[in-house]
Amino acid sequence: MFRKSMLGLTILLVSTSFAQSAPTAPYKVVDGYKVDPETMKGFRTWRAAACDRCHGANQEGMVGPSLVTALKTLTKEEFVKTVRDGRLEKGMQSFGTSPQVMENMDQLYAYLKGRSDGAITRAKVEPMP
Ligand code: HEC
Repeated sequence: MFRKSMLGLTILLVSTSFAQSAPTAPYKVVDGYKVDPETMKGFRTWRAAACDRCHGANQEGMVGPSLVTALKTLTKEEFVKTVRDGRLEKGMQSFGTSPQVMENMDQLYAYLKGRSDGAITRAKVEPMP
């Protein structure tokens, strides 16, 4: 009886620790601004697509909302849908016809997620040595 409940407790503890461990971050960063090549592509896409016109140079919002705040709750699926389809009636344009954005969607998300997580501490990043 005792051993059985101990086993149950062990399983519970193991599954809890799995649930709590954060999913692997989609970016790598050291010193707050040196990032892996894929995240670098995301930053270049951010620049090329000029998302900063509406979301601000530091992603903290202007005409468009702060993406630092938004990506704390927005799922990756919602992010992809919003960037691809836009929210035209609300002033967010669609990037579905932009090959650069569509081909670098994961990288763009990784870069912005890093900013939102506070792991990438400044907007302008540089390649990792
Ligand atoms: C012409 C201005 C404009 C540009 C350019 C623009 N956005 Fe937006 N974006 C907006 C506005 C306005 C909203 C808010 C829409 C709403 O109210 O739902 C928004 C919303 C979003 C959201 C959803 C935020 C949330 O809280 O749900 C994401 C993600 C986003 N933009 C990413 C981007 C990215 C990435 C780019 C560049 C590839 C970009 N935007 C370019 C204006 C813009």
